[in-house]
Amino acid sequence: MVGTSLNNLLKEYAVQGLLTGSILIVDDELPNLAVLGSFLDGDYTVHEAGSGEEALAIAKLTAIDVVVCDQRMPGMTGVELLHKLRESGIDAPGIILTGYTDTPALIAAINDAHVFRFLRKPWQPEDVLSAVAAASDTVMYQRAARRLLDLLSDRTQELQTTLTELRSAQQSLLQLDRLVTTGRLAAGITHDLRNAMSSLVMIEFEVAAKLSDPELVETIAVGLAGLRNLLESLETMNQYAKQKRLAMTMEYFDPSCVVRDAITVMRMDLNFRARTVAVDAPREVLPLVLGDRQKLVQVLVNLLRNAAQATKVDERIWVTADRHDSGLIRFSVEDDGPGISPEVRDRLFEAFASTKNEQGVGMGLYMSKLIVENHQGELHCVERTGGGARFEITIPPAELGS
Ligand SMILES: Nc1ncnc2c1ncn2[C@@H]1O[C@H](COP(=O)(O)OP(=O)(O)OP(=O)(O)O)[C@@H](O)[C@H]1O
Ligand SMILES: [Mg+2]
Repeated sequence: MVGTSLNNLLKEYAVQGLLTGSILIVDDELPNLAVLGSFLDGDYTVHEAGSGEEALAIAKLTAIDVVVCDQRMPGMTGVELLHKLRESGIDAPGIILTGYTDTPALIAAINDAHVFRFLRKPWQPEDVLSAVAAASDTVMYQRAARRLLDLLSDRTQELQTTLTELRSAQQSLLQLDRLVTTGRLAAGITHDLRNAMSSLVMIEFEVAAKLSDPELVETIAVGLAGLRNLLESLETMNQYAKQKRLAMTMEYFDPSCVVRDAITVMRMDLNFRARTVAVDAPREVLPLVLGDRQKLVQVLVNLLRNAAQATKVDERIWVTADRHDSGLIRFSVEDDGPGISPEVRDRLFEAFASTKNEQGVGMGLYMSKLIVENHQGELHCVERTGGGARFEITIPPAELGS
């Protein structure tokens, strides 16, 4: 009988119905079937078949625990029948009644484990009964083990799914939490910065009125443009953290303006000034875009700042605006730096994915993607032959947009 520990497991997992109590007896000689059936009948539900074919048909329709069959039958031998049963996925062990104990076919069958036991003719009823009982036990063990394994693999699957769900829930909670914190932080800085900005605007007026040095006036104007953009970025972050959506100020504009504005902002950056920058954004050639111009400028500034941070003095940066074959407006920012580090490649556009300890928090690409997607567009980092990094933005022009 089944061992206690297995029994406990079966109880714990509510595994039942491993045995059906059904035996299939197969013999082409009817009197033999009658004798076999008569003493098995008391303990088991007996199904009778006069040939291998008939036995197969019954076993496919009825759940059988053990098959007892004659070896010598016309059409299909006992061993062949057991082979066919295994091929059909039927696990009932077979007991073969035979007068031929040592032919090669029988030995091979034992080795293939298709036959549970051979009983030599003339057999004694006790031998058949004890062989059937042992075969029933064996099949019960096998079925129990299989069922428990199935349950185990289901459980493992369930656990795995739950774990993955938990992880992603935890991740998004963490993200949200950090976003809210960053939002609060941004709110504080925004406030101070706005105050500083108003004083600076006043100074700009005075300087412009009193100084005739155009270079100094320009430096101040460029500096202010940079601050204004920083303020815009902080406000975007702040507002998104609060409302979980972006408020867009929609207007029609020439895409080349976005590139020009972004370059103006970036000229405040000393790193950027020290790079060789190639700009290709023809004015009044591309179709207009309907969108939030300031936010798209922020996106290009984020990409250009990343490019400036990734490159050394005199290394090259390209920025373009053109019309893609698909009809979409395409902006691109490309640099000759070392390319994207494998450390962040898979989570480049996630919040807080950064390799820059002091120089960045990892919000640039995250916010940029958000803004671009709010324009029904896409932002991708594309393969660049020969190293470096290339980012592409595609957005529909006003005529294609909704
Ligand atoms: N042009 C680039 N060349 C190489 N790596 C880049 C480039 N652009 C982005 N990366 C990588 O992607 C990471 C994420 O960029 P992202 O702009 O989102 O954040 P950050 O620049 O680190 O910080 P933040 O923009 O918030 O100041 C960077 O830390 C950097 O590792
Ligand atoms: Mg950045």
